[in-house]
Amino acid sequence: MDYPMDYAERFQQLDAWLARYQSVWRATPFTQHKLPWEQDWPELATWLRSRSLAEAEQAHTQLQALHAPQPFRELSLQAEALSQIPDWSVAPVQSWPELLERHIPGRKWQQITRFAQASQRGWSQPPRHWLDWCAGKGHLGRLLAWQGGQPLTCLEQDAQLNQDGRALSQALQLNAQHLDYDVMTPTAWNQLRPDHSLVALHACGQLHMTLLEQAVVAGCAQIALSPCCYNRIDGTHYRPLSQRARQSRLHLSKRDLGLPLQATHTAGQRSRRLRDQSMAWRLAFDVWQREVTGRDAYLPTPSKPESAMGQGFIAFCNDLAQHHGLKLSASTDWTALESRGWQRLAEVRNLELVGGLFRRPLEVWLLLDRALFLQEAGYTVSLGLFAPAHLTPRNFLLLAEEKTEQPITSL
Ligand SMILES: C[S@@+](CC[C@H](N)C(=O)[O-])C[C@H]1O[C@@H](n2cnc3c(N)ncnc32)[C@H](O)[C@@H]1O
Repeated sequence: MDYPMDYAERFQQLDAWLARYQSVWRATPFTQHKLPWEQDWPELATWLRSRSLAEAEQAHTQLQALHAPQPFRELSLQAEALSQIPDWSVAPVQSWPELLERHIPGRKWQQITRFAQASQRGWSQPPRHWLDWCAGKGHLGRLLAWQGGQPLTCLEQDAQLNQDGRALSQALQLNAQHLDYDVMTPTAWNQLRPDHSLVALHACGQLHMTLLEQAVVAGCAQIALSPCCYNRIDGTHYRPLSQRARQSRLHLSKRDLGLPLQATHTAGQRSRRLRDQSMAWRLAFDVWQREVTGRDAYLPTPSKPESAMGQGFIAFCNDLAQHHGLKLSASTDWTALESRGWQRLAEVRNLELVGGLFRRPLEVWLLLDRALFLQEAGYTVSLGLFAPAHLTPRNFLLLAEEKTEQPITSL
């Protein structure tokens, strides 16, 4: 393995840093008018509050480049150092039959080929049997099996996806089975064997945590996992996998687990505009309800379909007021209120940039929990990036290989 980082040490540093600043990254500018950190960093708060919505949008994906007052820069450098992970991403040069990539959107295929390429680098033994976990049609497993000639087993609960995958595997004359299994059940776990190399591209929270637990139980030889949707877990709070992370002071809620996922703005312009409008109107309603009720607290607002916004701002507020048993006043200056909503939205988005600095470090904390769990179970582990962020923001790859006993040579 080519990655000398000491995961336990890095985890310790990250854990202490995240615990120290938890009131910063847990702050919710959308629902809190005053954030806990503003008192300590008034210059930063005033600067962010004075910026426009467009400036916040621009800074969102380039936080390191933002020249904000301290401690923004200092936190940004710390976040970068603590999230440093080697980049294994290389554009594949090999060619393959068209059938392998048929019907796969371009970006997805690029993820798959890079995943396949990067996953081969971390193992000392050649894979013997691929097992694709939550395989969909099994595109990733099929590419790997086609490249190396090993058998392939795909576990997927959607029978139609399996049927389509089976047809594709047969057309390429691969030794593949696509099984209708719910990977959260023991019947699926019974499929796992020590000669399996498990691969999972973008398996959600509990699905990939179960993969790791069951792979360890079955003693699977190798694992290549790219996790996503850390917040899709059973229960309200995160239950760490590793002994090390179980000792942490951080008790992560589902909401906390969603923070690493907030980095992307992949939506089209129209849906972004609608999302902004809906948020600005909710924030305007929030300003109004705090003044009317005299309670300086956010009132949750029900999610509304796009059509509700077609009725206009006053009707939108009226619906929300009715929902909470409040009555709108005839004397309200709606134009002024709406522009206060937009003003609040600009402030919210700019203030959120501070929490944004902690997105990647929190994701690395979660990955290191997985890495340490596998190390504790006797695996050799490495962590890298398999694709650039523009191909997928979930671009971490965790590679693990069970340590094999070295044969004792006779003297
Ligand atoms: C995000 S997709 C990833 C699919 C594939 N790995 C890829 O990258 O194209 C998640 C897949 O997991 C499958 N899935 C979700 N829950 C599952 C479960 N409990 N058991 C088996 N498959 C499941 C879904 O049907 C879907 O095909």
